[in-house]
Amino acid sequence: MSDPSARTLPLHIAIIMDGNGRWAARRGLPRTMGHRKGVEAVRETVRAAGELGIRYLTLYAFSSENWSRPEPEVNDLMGLLKVFIRRDLAELHRQNVRVRIIGDRWNLRSDVLPLLLEAEETTRNNTAITVCIAFNYGSRDEIARAMQSLAVDVAEGRLSPEQITPPLIASRLDTAGMPDPDLVIRTSGEERLSNFLLWQSAYSEFVFMPEYWPDFDRAMLMRAIDIYRQRDRRFGNVAPASAAASSATPPPASLAVGS
Ligand code: IPE
Ligand code: IPE
Ligand code: MG
Repeated sequence: MSDPSARTLPLHIAIIMDGNGRWAARRGLPRTMGHRKGVEAVRETVRAAGELGIRYLTLYAFSSENWSRPEPEVNDLMGLLKVFIRRDLAELHRQNVRVRIIGDRWNLRSDVLPLLLEAEETTRNNTAITVCIAFNYGSRDEIARAMQSLAVDVAEGRLSPEQITPPLIASRLDTAGMPDPDLVIRTSGEERLSNFLLWQSAYSEFVFMPEYWPDFDRAMLMRAIDIYRQRDRRFGNVAPASAAASSATPPPASLAVGS
């Protein structure tokens, strides 16, 4: 890895954890085994990101479109989230991890929602790293919910249409108050966003990796960060005179923080 002091670390890394099913199929195993191994990769990634000094890590765990999968698989994924929170919450708390959930939580099953709320509440004052789990998350759904809340304010006279600006919209998204992701990683070789952080990734750097999610580990995270550090982020501006400083160029304030 290049000299860690030379270029800034991404403040926020977001990961599309893809390829659990193919990882299992390649081994002649049921898809569910891929999801189980994927949870182990989540544990390692959270630990590694914290140790590397990453402040925000967003993990795409279940999309609003994943409901279209066969019911046994959906149930399996719900069960895994429950087991993960029950088993790992104490350890995450010990690691000073703040857990945050994005996605439409109010349509979740009554056995899942209390666990998500408990994870957020237990860890709300933790400061080492924010681990944001995107669950029942879809960017278009998130944006539609934000628009509905703005429309209610306009209809009830608390807001005028010209007050609707990009920072105000960002403050109504599930990610309100979080910086936009600097780096978006997708595993499994697919090169698409699949309805993930469409608004927030306007100026993100993308790293697509061929490995399946269950094989993701600390070394792969460091590899992705290393690729990110070679990138020249310009945010619409011209390249700075010193290429070495480019990756450290701060984004305009309106792009940097989601509120
Ligand atoms: C990612 O792996 C996990 C979820 C989407 C929940 P997949 O289940 O999408 O695995 P592939 O893409 O079919 O291999
Ligand atoms: C994206 O993966 C969602 C998650 C990783 C949770 P999918 O496997 O659902 O995406 P598509 O269907 O290949 O676009
Ligand atoms: Mg997939």
